[in-house]
Amino acid sequence: MADNFVKVAKVTEIPAGEVRVYNVDGARLALCNVGGQIFAIDDTCTHDDGPLGSGFLDGHAIECPRHGAQFDVRTGRVLKMPAAFPVRSYTVQIKDGDVLVDLGDETT
Ligand code: FES
Repeated sequence: MADNFVKVAKVTEIPAGEVRVYNVDGARLALCNVGGQIFAIDDTCTHDDGPLGSGFLDGHAIECPRHGAQFDVRTGRVLKMPAAFPVRSYTVQIKDGDVLVDLGDETT
């Protein structure tokens, strides 16, 4: 699929170890800063639509605040039930201090 990078945020808006949620082109994205590297996943938990961006980030794992499912923010892979399906993850580029997300790409 062709690249479709869209500017979503400034890197400085997302402190290390934290998550920020953005609405862009109809998608609701959770941008996660893990040790200075930004990862993008869907904000919506695949278990029961919980707000992942309001969850707890521990290293590369994000925990849904509703029932505790965990996902790897690098790939969207499920790390802990009750979620059974991965969350969508996106390719990220940093350019001139901006976070660009490829909405046409799906890494999972
Ligand atoms: S909605 Fe996320 S664990 Fe249930």
